[in-house]
Amino acid sequence: MPPQQYLHNPSAADALPFYKPVGNECTVFETAYRQRLPLLIKGPTGCGKTRFIAHMAARLGRNLHTVSCHDDLTAADLTGRYLLKGGETVWMDGPLTRAVREGSICYLDEVVEARKDVTVVLHPLTDDRRILPLERTGEILQAPDAFMLVISYNPGYQNILKSLKPSTRQRFVSISFDFPPPEIETGIIACESGLGENQCIPLVNLARQLRDLKEIDLEEVVSTRLLVYCAILIKNGLDPLQAAETALVEPLCDDHDIKQGLLELIRATYG
Ligand SMILES: Nc1ncnc2c1ncn2[C@@H]1O[C@H](COP(=O)(O)OP(=O)(O)O)[C@@H](O)[C@H]1O
Ligand SMILES: [Mg+2]
Repeated sequence: MPPQQYLHNPSAADALPFYKPVGNECTVFETAYRQRLPLLIKGPTGCGKTRFIAHMAARLGRNLHTVSCHDDLTAADLTGRYLLKGGETVWMDGPLTRAVREGSICYLDEVVEARKDVTVVLHPLTDDRRILPLERTGEILQAPDAFMLVISYNPGYQNILKSLKPSTRQRFVSISFDFPPPEIETGIIACESGLGENQCIPLVNLARQLRDLKEIDLEEVVSTRLLVYCAILIKNGLDPLQAAETALVEPLCDDHDIKQGLLELIRATYG
């Protein structure tokens, strides 16, 4: 199955993707980039990892190749393969190979999902050799200074079968992401949705309460992304209670009683 992939072209006249820093992550990223160190970003879904990388790639003037890893993703999906084209077999670079050739940033999202053979490809790229051997073509590509490998994973899933092997993770410098502190998250939601800050504050307070509910066992908690969606619905005329149900409750759970519990909390803010 071909990897899902997007190409962000920073040479387009668009402004930098909006990113509000939470700490010194921009400096850490830039230093790692300049020193040719691979980077691992850990953090829950919807907390800003992808946006951060898109922002940094644009800031550094690099193309970004993003691959959303899934359990069918193999090394060949990243490196490339021979394809039949008009009766001829032609080699097609995968996104990782393209990034290495161009000197771009390659971002492997949720890398622990990928097949095991992917780590074999990453190892020689993540030590001081910085090479990508392409067995099928016989090439050994030397990554240019401008190439950077960034991977992410969500440690919250606690899936013992799917955690990063220590021998892989110790090849990356790492940053931990979490949901931004309330003032910053309020600013992000206001910017992204166009909803006034005054109306974003109760939303962020509500998110805090929902995230703190220890007795409810949800696989995921309310993310910054869902708060942005909720604010967009409110901004566009939906009643806040309805917006919160649609954006903050239904996406996270199916259980009737748990949903009622969450709605009760929401009614205390918007009822
Ligand atoms: N620090 C931030 N600055 C700007 N937008 C943010 C930030 N954090 C989260 N967001 C918003 O949350 C959404 C989800 O973030 P994303 O980067 O896709 O999450 P992740 O990759 O961690 O799952 C973004 O599309 C953006 O609207
Ligand atoms: Mg992401």
